[in-house]
This record gives sequence, structure tokens and C-alpha cells, in this order.
Amino acid sequence: MNQVKIFDTTLRDGEQSPGCSMNLREKIEIAKCLERMKVDIIEAGFAISSPGDFESVQSIAREIKGCTIASLARSTEGDIDAAWNAVKDAVDPRIHLFIATSPLHMEYKLKMKPEDVLETAGRMTAYAKKYCSNIEFSAEDATRSEPEFLAKVVEAAIKNGATTVNIPDTVGYTTPEEMRALIEYLIETAEGAKDVIFSVHCHNDLGMATSNSLAGVLGGARQIECTINGLGERAGNTALEEVVMAMRTRPDIFADITTGIDTTQIYRASRTTYNIIGQKAPLNKSIVGQNAFAHESGIHQHGVLANKKTYEILTPEAVGIHTQNIVLGKHSGKHAVESHLTEMGYNLTEEELLRCFEEFKILCDKKKNVSDEDLEAIVLHNTSASSDIENGYELDWFAVHTSNFTTATSTVCLRKGDEKFERVALGDGPIDASFKAIDEILNPPEHTFDVYSINSTSEGKDTLGDVSIKLSSGYKTYTGRGLSTDIIEASITAYIQASNKMLAAGGKL
Ligand code: KIV
Ligand code: ZN
Repeated sequence: MNQVKIFDTTLRDGEQSPGCSMNLREKIEIAKCLERMKVDIIEAGFAISSPGDFESVQSIAREIKGCTIASLARSTEGDIDAAWNAVKDAVDPRIHLFIATSPLHMEYKLKMKPEDVLETAGRMTAYAKKYCSNIEFSAEDATRSEPEFLAKVVEAAIKNGATTVNIPDTVGYTTPEEMRALIEYLIETAEGAKDVIFSVHCHNDLGMATSNSLAGVLGGARQIECTINGLGERAGNTALEEVVMAMRTRPDIFADITTGIDTTQIYRASRTTYNIIGQKAPLNKSIVGQNAFAHESGIHQHGVLANKKTYEILTPEAVGIHTQNIVLGKHSGKHAVESHLTEMGYNLTEEELLRCFEEFKILCDKKKNVSDEDLEAIVLHNTSASSDIENGYELDWFAVHTSNFTTATSTVCLRKGDEKFERVALGDGPIDASFKAIDEILNPPEHTFDVYSINSTSEGKDTLGDVSIKLSSGYKTYTGRGLSTDIIEASITAYIQASNKMLAAGGKL
């Protein structure tokens, strides 16, 4: 009972937040990161919510062997049937059903009386239990529920077969003291509570999700629900990397309570996730932000040089950040690149390695020294599921004409299978002209262009341009990344990638 299970809901609560939608291949890639990191439970989606969600939960259940796979369900037979059908092929399937228990949610959202909510919670838990032994029950908006009523609902769920009981702070309203007291109260009061695992699921609206989750653990919870980088509805969920590293860094407070997480996989999982949703970590994001381990001020640098512990409570290596920057160049062979990548925490398949090595060689012709940052960008681009959509369009060639006194022109030629498509367009600068030429070829559905960002992967004039683009159509977002020493090429590649995803989702590829 001293192990806290890590339940990751990046693919459900994280993915359902605006701007974070992912396609199947992207979800599987994140699931693989989670498996490598040794999370205990992956909530792969909400099976009833769409055929696409059902398919991704099912695929993850079939492919990922090292974790329990859960699907969310409301407390209805239809939702539970769908959840079970999606997860049943997993090595260890879990159905996660929920119903709201706060006066507000019961009256205005569910339009149900408390006694009906209580009855439904018990009956639907029993219904799910007929399918599966591993059942999680969540009392939505638990922290704004009346504790005595909440205890009764929890008791009903346990009596009817729940093996994990989750106490969500759905709107990020509670405080650490309250959360700890609530968990202690429920474990003490609800019959059967000592035989199940209590879980906490905190949202970050007031910036307290991490503290509240940790307080829940001190109150007796032995499962934390969280997401990579704290993604999630509104201000997000508890960040996995924060709770895991907090427990590890403060054994004096958490005594012998540990998690089974391989923390050296945290950075890779974080970068992969940001890459897939087309975002960058805020510079000062704890654990995974670029400045998390940087010491700029003279006083800090002086202290760290004398003894790292003066200003560093955890090491970058502990979360998989590689600090020994070895310079690779055109004389470095495949084995040197491979062994350096392994040191950086990237164990690639032979196929991924070949693709990355090919791109590394191309880069060496343009750039004398390839830094770790360049190499990492190459890996993220080439191992990312987002990099290739089957049957998608690819760039064949482009030519631009631009100056500061004429309208820019771009000719773009795309390839799809054996066919080639060429268009020319004018635009407000070479990138705009190129995107217009691409639109003429692809004829994409109506969409908005939400994000265009360009970053350099490393210092120096010969750095790579890393372009990120986000388009949205309906409620879905589509991201694309492009990497090149030529920023127009990087922009075109990113735009084609995002457009391919949008076309594939609309059945137009
Ligand atoms: O925030 C919440 O209450 C949830 C539940 C469905 C677990 O996400
Ligand atoms: Zn939630």
C-alpha cells in the first residue's frame, strides 16, 4: 500500500481540451511513451463519444501490453457497453464510470434527485462489474458535494464492485487541507473503503492541482490521475511530472510512498506530447521547461559551481535531460549517432534510426556541427506519428521569388503516389504565397489557421528552423511540424502535414 499508482489521462481529459485533439497514430505514440515510462493505468479515451475515440481506445488496448487500459463511461448501460467493447482485448482492462454528486451538478446537469443518483451509482457499478473485475468509480465534482452524501455514494459503488474510487476536484476548487481531510473522512466513514484504492483527480483552475493531489496521497489516496505537461480542460489537470518528482524529491514528507515511474522517460514524453499538439513548454514550466534547470544569475551560478545542491533540488538527468552536449558532424557514423541517442534516452527502432540518420547526414552537408538540440528535433520529427499520413501529399519541390518591392510568387509541386500537382500563387510574402499554392492543389475544407510559430533548434546562424502550424476545422485541430535550415521549406512541410491530417479526418485522402 505504499505504492501510488499513476493513472494517466492525457489521451482522455487532456485530449478533450481545446487545441489538443490527436489522431490515432499520435495517440498510440503517446501511449508508447507512457508504457516506457511505466505508468500504471492509461485512460485511452471515452469510447462512446465518437467512433474515432472508440477505435483509438480499442487500438491502444490491443497494442499496449505493459499498462492497465481504461475507458471512461457515464453511468449508463450504453456508455458502459461501449467502454467494455473498446477495452476488452487489453491485458488488464478497466471500466471507469462516473456520475456527478454535487447539488449543482445533480440539479442542473443531471436533473436527478440525490436518491436517484445514489441508486444509479450502485446499479451501474454492478452492471459494469458483470463485464470486468477492474472497476473504477468517480464521483464527479466530489469536492463540492456534501461529504455525508458522497460517502453514501462511495459506499454504494464499493458494495457493487468498484475496486478504485476516484474523488475528482472537477473544477479545481478545493485546497490541500480540504482534499486531505476529505480523503481521510471517506476512508474512515464509507463501509468497505479500506478494501479499495482511493484516487484523486485534480484540475488546476487555481493552480493547486499538484498540491491537492499530493495532499490526497497524504490523506490515504494511492492513485493520482494526471496528464503529461498538465494538459487538460481549462487550466489543465495535475501534471504527471510534477507529482512524480515531488514525491521522489521529498522522501522526508512522503516517507516510503513511491511510484513505479521511470523518471528518465519524463522529458521525452513531455517533448513528444508538446510536439504532437503543436505547443512548446512555457520556459519556466516546472520540471520540463527550458529554464527549469538554467542558472542565469551570477549568485546562482556561483553557488551551483561550488555545490550543485545550493540551487538544484533535482538533477536534469533524473528526468532524462541529457546535459553532456557531444558535437556530432559529417564524420560521425550510424553507430556513433545511435549510441549518442541512447545516452539521450532515445531507443529507436532500426527503421526510425535509419530515417533519422539519413536526415542527420543531409543536415551535416548544410551545417558543420550538429548539436543535441538539432538531433532531438530530428528524432521528434522522424519518430513522430504525425510525420507521415498514409497516402498523404508530399513536397516534391518549390521555387519562390520574393523581394521587398514586388509581390511574392511561389510555385509548389506536390507528389501523391505517382501523381504530381503543380500550382503557382501570389501572396503577402513567400510563405503566404506557398500556402496559397498548396491550398489550390489540396482544396481543403473550410478551416481556420490558428497557429504559425517558428523557433530555432539551437544557437548560431546555421540553426534549423522548427515550424509549427495548427489548423482547425469543426471542433478538431490538426498540427504540422517542419524542420529545415530553410524556413520556407520548413513552413511548407508543416503546412502539408497539418493539411494531410485534416484531409484524412474528412475522408478526402
Ligand atoms: O474532472 C472530472 O471530474 C473528470 C471525471 C470524469 C473523472 O474528468
Ligand atoms: Zn477531469
